[in-house]
Amino acid sequence: SQPATRHFLKDTDLSPAEQAEVLELAVRMKAAPYSVQPFAGEGSGRKTVAVIFDKTSTRTRVSFAAGVADMGGNALIINPGEAQIGHKESVEDTAKVLERMVSTIVWRTGAHSGLVAMAENSRVPVINALCDDYHPCQLLADLLAVKEHKGELKGLTMAYLGDAANNMANSYLLAGVTAGMHVRIAGPQGYLPAAGIVESARERAAESGGSVLITTDAQEALKGADVVATDTWISMGQEAEKEARLQLFREYSVDEAAMALAAEDAVVLHCLPAYRGFEISAAVIDGPQSIVWDEAENRLHAQKALMAWLMHRSGLAVVDGLP
Ligand code: CP
Ligand code: NVA
Repeated sequence: SQPATRHFLKDTDLSPAEQAEVLELAVRMKAAPYSVQPFAGEGSGRKTVAVIFDKTSTRTRVSFAAGVADMGGNALIINPGEAQIGHKESVEDTAKVLERMVSTIVWRTGAHSGLVAMAENSRVPVINALCDDYHPCQLLADLLAVKEHKGELKGLTMAYLGDAANNMANSYLLAGVTAGMHVRIAGPQGYLPAAGIVESARERAAESGGSVLITTDAQEALKGADVVATDTWISMGQEAEKEARLQLFREYSVDEAAMALAAEDAVVLHCLPAYRGFEISAAVIDGPQSIVWDEAENRLHAQKALMAWLMHRSGLAVVDGLP
């Protein structure tokens, strides 16, 4: 019988063992980019992957298009405003049409509930390409970059500073503890992860051997950290709050003073686009501890592995070497 379809809507949709399996596959596929072909058509999955954007993108768009092409398929990129989804037609009806034509549905949107509705009505995998609450594909790329630079993820300390209530903060927390890391999140009062996210992170940490620290004290988060991460203070849709936000997060900038508190060999992550002089200084992002370009490249490799893994586990394609 057909196994249940696997989706990737938030970081904890992969168990610790499954996340490790996807990252291992990404290492393998980075070394042999055409070795896995889940979108090759005949005898494998359908050739087309729908990649839908309700918000703008550079990395996500290019990495999914390039990744699908590498794996024998074609990415149909649907830009903001080009489809009826959500205004002239429900998400549910859209899902029921798309799942009959494509191998996988990738969607960047606002509300997470839309992704849940899409997944509930789709027999092909649905992937969250960023929503207001999570950016789980980005975290697979980040963890792959850390793994390449540090080896084992389990036991490392990762500090995230800045807007700690946004999609990246949530994903650093959830994906980090899934990898068995000690995750520290620092931001001002009122801009920290929601209680439900923290609870789910603590549950995951108990399972993986990781831990969770939520604090308003940037220095407490940074002390001895192996990985330091940040993100824009003004996420897509928050442009009207720009002036207030530039003041609000000032103490949480990843600059030279902040890096002096982290471990001497700490690496720095930023999902990009970056605003030098605000959430991160030019000296840090363009300096020797920054691994942001490897991180960006790894969007390609990590998402290829994720797509192949989801197709395999959903019984829609076979990837040699996977259980
Ligand atoms: N990091 C990231 O998701 O970049 P884009 O918004 O350019 O896709
Ligand atoms: N937090 C940012 C991430 C961009 C990749 C945003 O949502 O705009």
